[in-house]
Amino acid sequence: MNLRVLYVCSEVFPLLKTGGLADVSAGLPPALAKQGADVRLLLPAFPAIVAGVTPEGPSLLVPAGGSMGLPAGLGPHPGTTPGPTPWLQRGRIEATGQPVMLLHAPGLLDRPGNPYHDAKGHPWPDSAEQFAWLGWAAALLGTGLDSGWVPDVVHGHDWHTGLAFAYLDRLAAAGQRRPATVFTIHNLAYQGVFDVSTRDRLGLPDPLFRIQGLEFHGHVSFMKAGLHYADAITTVSPTYAREITGVEQGCGLDGVLRERRDRLHGILNGVDDAVWDPANDALVKPGFSADDLRGKAAAKARLQQRLGLKADPDALLFCVVSRLTEQKGLHLLPGVIDELVARGGQLAVLGAGDALIEQALQHAAQRHPGAVGLHIGYDEALAHTVIAGSDVILVPSRFEPCGLTQLYGLRYGTLPLVRAVGGLVDTVTDSSLEHLDDGSASGFVFHDLSEAALLSALRRAFALRRREADWHAVQRHAMSLRFDWARAATDTLRVYALARADATGTASA
Ligand code: ADP
Ligand code: GLC
Repeated sequence: MNLRVLYVCSEVFPLLKTGGLADVSAGLPPALAKQGADVRLLLPAFPAIVAGVTPEGPSLLVPAGGSMGLPAGLGPHPGTTPGPTPWLQRGRIEATGQPVMLLHAPGLLDRPGNPYHDAKGHPWPDSAEQFAWLGWAAALLGTGLDSGWVPDVVHGHDWHTGLAFAYLDRLAAAGQRRPATVFTIHNLAYQGVFDVSTRDRLGLPDPLFRIQGLEFHGHVSFMKAGLHYADAITTVSPTYAREITGVEQGCGLDGVLRERRDRLHGILNGVDDAVWDPANDALVKPGFSADDLRGKAAAKARLQQRLGLKADPDALLFCVVSRLTEQKGLHLLPGVIDELVARGGQLAVLGAGDALIEQALQHAAQRHPGAVGLHIGYDEALAHTVIAGSDVILVPSRFEPCGLTQLYGLRYGTLPLVRAVGGLVDTVTDSSLEHLDDGSASGFVFHDLSEAALLSALRRAFALRRREADWHAVQRHAMSLRFDWARAATDTLRVYALARADATGTASA
C-alpha cells in the first residue's frame, strides 16, 4: 500500500499565500505523490481556501479533546459561548486536483483576510485557538478518526501545526495508535508563543506544560511543541539547519535544536516548473530561454513601462519582490539607492510590510522619478513581470531559511544578489574571478549586514555588466541550474522512513 501522508499546513498557492510556505505546500505534495506517496493536505477552512476546493463525500465531526487538552467549545475568549462542533470536509483543490481535508470551525476560521493578523497587523486574539484546533484535528486523523484513510505519517509545517505533535504524544500515552511524525521549520522567528492563560483556555494537560515539552519561559510555544515531540524535524536548507543550532539564529530554541540535532535535516526547497518557467510562463509572453533572450528584453520594456521607469534597455535593472521586513534586510536598501541610480541603474520594488521601509522607499521613488519604481502591495502577476524583466534580484536578508525568489531569479536569468545566510548560501555562487573561471558563478554574494557590503556587491554587479561575455556566461549558467521538487521529495521520503523507524513506543511518560 502507498505511504499515506497527512500534510498539515496553513496556506497553499494559489488559494491563500502570504509567503513561500504556500509555494512549498503547492510544490512538495505532488512531487511526493509522483514518487508513490498518497498525500492529503489538512488545511484550515479559511474563506479563500474554501472557495478553491470542490467538496467530496461526507464530512467528519471533530470532537473536543476533554482531558486530552482542548477546550470543549469554540468560544475564542474565556467565558464566551462555545460554537458548534468543528468538522472536516474532504475535497480537492479545483486548480490542481490535490486531495485535501478542510477543518471548518465556525466563528474561528471563517473570517476573510490575512490568516494570521488583522488589517492593522495585530495578531488575531484567538490565533492560539485557531491553530490548536488545526493541531487537534491533525492528531485525531493521525490516530484514525477517518477509518477509511489512516495516515502513516503526519507532516506539519511551522508553528501553526506544532500542537498536533504534543496531542499525538498524549494520545499515544493513552494507548492510541501513533503515526510517524515530521515537523518542518520554514521560519524559526515566528513561534506561536502565547501567554500562560492560553494553557487554561486550551486546557493543555500538565505533562505537556514543562521544559521538556511546550513550555517556553513560562509561555506556551507551539513551535517548541513541534520541535520537541516530532520524530524528525526538517528545515528548508542545509545551511539554515546548521545555523539554527547556534545562539545567533536559534531564536531562543537553539538548545532544543541542539538536543535534537541528530533528528534535524536540511532539505532545500524546489521550484514549481508549472508556475515558474520562463519558457512557459502564462504571465510572461513571449517566453524566453538562455538561447533566446528576446522575451526577456520585452519583459524588461514592459516592466519599465508598468512601474514608470525610463524605457532604457541598457540601464541595469535591479528588483525586489518581497515582504518588506527586517528579516529580508531591506532596511539597508534605502541607503544605497542614490548610488545605484548615480551609476545609471534602475530599481523596481514590489512588496509590502514594515511602514518605515515602505516610507523610505516611497521617498526614494520621489527623489528618483524614472529610475525607482515602486508598487506597494501583493500582486502575483506583477511578481512574474518584475522577476522576468529585471537583470538582478536583491535578497540582502538578515536570515533566510531557504528563500524562493532567488531561485526564481536564477531560472529567469535575473542574477541574485544575496547575503550569505541560510538557503541563499546553498543556492547562489558569487561571481568571483575564481568562480567565473570555473563556470560556477550564478550571482553576487556579500557577507556583512551593512550598507557598505551591499554597495560593494552592487558595484560588482555593475562591473560584471560591463563585461558582456562574462555576464552572459553567468546568466546562462544560472538559467541551467535546477532546484526541483523531485529531489526534495526523495529526501523527504527518506526522512519519513527514518521517522517511521523511530515512531514505535515514543510517547513520553
Ligand atoms: P518568505 O516566505 O520569507 O516571504 P520566500 O522567498 O520563501 O520568502 O517566498 C516569498 C514568496 O512570496 C515568493 O513566491 C514571492 O514571489 C512572493 N512574494 C513576496 N512578496 C510579494 C508581493 N508583494 N507580491 C507578490 N508576490 C510576492
Ligand atoms: C519561510 C522562509 C523562507 C522560505 C519559506 C518556504 O517563509 O522565510 O526563507 O523560503 O518559508 O520554505
